[in-house]
Amino acid sequence: MRLTRFTDWLEAQDDIDRVGQPLNELVHRVLPGGMFKDALTGTWLGHPLHPVLVMVPIGSWTSASLIDVAVGRSTTAARRLIGVGLLAALPSALSGLADWSDTGGSEQRVGVTHASLNSVALALYGASWWTRRRAGRTGAGGSTGAVLALAGMAVATGAGYLGGHLIYAQGVGVDTNAFHTGPQDWTTVAAIDDLPDKGGLAVTAGQGRLLLVRQGTEILALGNRCSHRGAPLSDGSVSDGCVTCPWHGSRFDLRTGDVVAGPATVGQPVYETKVVAGQIQVRREEQRSLRTNPDGPG
Ligand code: FES
Repeated sequence: MRLTRFTDWLEAQDDIDRVGQPLNELVHRVLPGGMFKDALTGTWLGHPLHPVLVMVPIGSWTSASLIDVAVGRSTTAARRLIGVGLLAALPSALSGLADWSDTGGSEQRVGVTHASLNSVALALYGASWWTRRRAGRTGAGGSTGAVLALAGMAVATGAGYLGGHLIYAQGVGVDTNAFHTGPQDWTTVAAIDDLPDKGGLAVTAGQGRLLLVRQGTEILALGNRCSHRGAPLSDGSVSDGCVTCPWHGSRFDLRTGDVVAGPATVGQPVYETKVVAGQIQVRREEQRSLRTNPDGPG
């Protein structure tokens, strides 16, 4: 409960924006959208990459401290584990920066704090590695390396708490359509005459919004809320069988909902369509309904 009060307070600290916004602009300049950014966000993986990469430094550093405690002296194994964690921290940080660059407001502030704590932890582990290396040569200061590693672990745990807050409380990296199943039965959403020849039409179906697009004689339907950060795809552009998100440029195949270009990692829900008496009807495609519907068979 107290920690929740702390995160509420942190989210409201707009002073952090003085650092966060220039940094965000810098990251956008260094890391514009494209294949490299998609590789870092995890578009190719179908899942954010950052949580996968951070397992290596966390595991290496934790193992090093366990060895310190178990053996009771500085060992080569512990030093090497800390070195592995330091090396693995770079791609982890880059993937985190790529995700963070598409956040704003309170998420951006928590992200800045998360990254700052991780930087402190990284410095402590770097000092631990250096101290152990010197101890290996001179035989002095071995226990200092262990203490520095424990301090690094304490700071990294705080950073990890904020990383969890970003995902589980603020929804960064979560498929924004995860709990949206859409209509299971045929549902009328618009008149065929309302659908423009170019671009799309946003309609309401049940509790969600859908994007309808005319492609030749076909009518295609996707969830209108971008799976990445929730932008309305109807404000984006339609071309070459894809819709491009207006916020961060993810492209989705109109027919399959698949991600054609990131930073999104998860595709859009797709719907079957038919026209009855001049009215467009939609229903959720069978396979995706079964995968996400908690009331489905299984
Ligand atoms: S909201 Fe980020 S790409 Fe759509």
